[in-house]
Amino acid sequence: MNPSTSASVAELFPVIGRRTWLNHAAISPWPEPVSKAMQDFVSDNASQGPLGYGRWLQVEQRLRELAPSLLGQENADDIALVSNTSTGLNRIARGLDWQAGDSVVFMAEDFPSNTLPWMALERLGVQPRPVSLDTHDPERSLIAAIGPSTRLLAVSSVHYENGHRLDLARLGEACSRHGVLFCIDAIQHLGALPLDVDQVQADFVVAGSHKWLLAPEGLALFWSRPEARALLDVVEPGWRMFPDPFNFSRPDWTPPNSARRFEPGTLNTAAIHGLEASVSLLVEQGMDRVGSALLDRTDLLTEALESVPRIWLTSPIAREHRAGIVSLVIDGVDPESALAQLTLHGIHAAIRGRCLRLSPHFYTPMQQLEAAIDVIRKMAE
Ligand SMILES: Cc1ncc(COP(=O)(O)O)c(C=O)c1O
Repeated sequence: MNPSTSASVAELFPVIGRRTWLNHAAISPWPEPVSKAMQDFVSDNASQGPLGYGRWLQVEQRLRELAPSLLGQENADDIALVSNTSTGLNRIARGLDWQAGDSVVFMAEDFPSNTLPWMALERLGVQPRPVSLDTHDPERSLIAAIGPSTRLLAVSSVHYENGHRLDLARLGEACSRHGVLFCIDAIQHLGALPLDVDQVQADFVVAGSHKWLLAPEGLALFWSRPEARALLDVVEPGWRMFPDPFNFSRPDWTPPNSARRFEPGTLNTAAIHGLEASVSLLVEQGMDRVGSALLDRTDLLTEALESVPRIWLTSPIAREHRAGIVSLVIDGVDPESALAQLTLHGIHAAIRGRCLRLSPHFYTPMQQLEAAIDVIRKMAE
């Protein structure tokens, strides 16, 4: 972000004046417009219950219309609102018409949300193929595991622990060549960096809202390509699948073709207000600008720390694989002590896989990062 706008940045992101938040890969503090939207919703409920329901539905509709632009798309019909990333991934895993002997390829070291639904298919005779990405060319390993029986490749576009960003276009091209569905868990990507689902030839993308999307927990965006969506059975039908859900006496209950077929019941309206506000903010900033500002921050951390003796980066050095996460080990310093040191300085990070994980966002002031780098350097002395 442009430093000349720093006053307004501090107003937009109140956490800036209080803490150095380097933990967006876990849960993000809410920007001011998000907390305002949530507070207004709370006041509305407290004073008049659901009398404003019509307005709530308009906010929901605005979210449906705005969200596709984060994916390089325009069609609101391709977005379903679900309660979290795991739910979206499970709807895909349970919805496909698997046959005994099919196989599914996924990342062995992925977050469990993106391994367990695929492993659970074993009871249907589907062969789970977990692929270790601990190689110099992870995309090649994933593609090599695809065989004639493979129906779907599931990846997380950015690894939650080491921040490695996969070359999605390369994977999407291989999937399309082999006639395999391509499913992306983008919770560590959406809101951080641009994503164009056509360019990467994705079939399904799911991303929860409480990390890089800067919104409340309990809500996720689930995008599906119409032809891929048509392959999924509606395993959890419900009254709210229809664009006119209050018509309880419809003669035909056939699920709609739109992604709303994955929305059986009442949604988390409070979170919808928050996510509508945060997606508006991100769209207004422009995802290209957000992504490049975030990469400037990842670059600063990476370049300042990679040459420090006794510090080992586990996140990517190659720029094309960087995203918003920088992970490291300090020789002789256990990650708990390192985290405690940072916390003493008002710097909030996380430990994942015995590494210190730093995850700024596009708005994080560079001076805060410089200060964090100083503290980390001192620990390595
Ligand atoms: C890659 C990845 N997928 C999924 C999740 C969790 O998703 P949810 O709680 O929205 O189901 C996380 C959370 O850390 C994650 O890092």
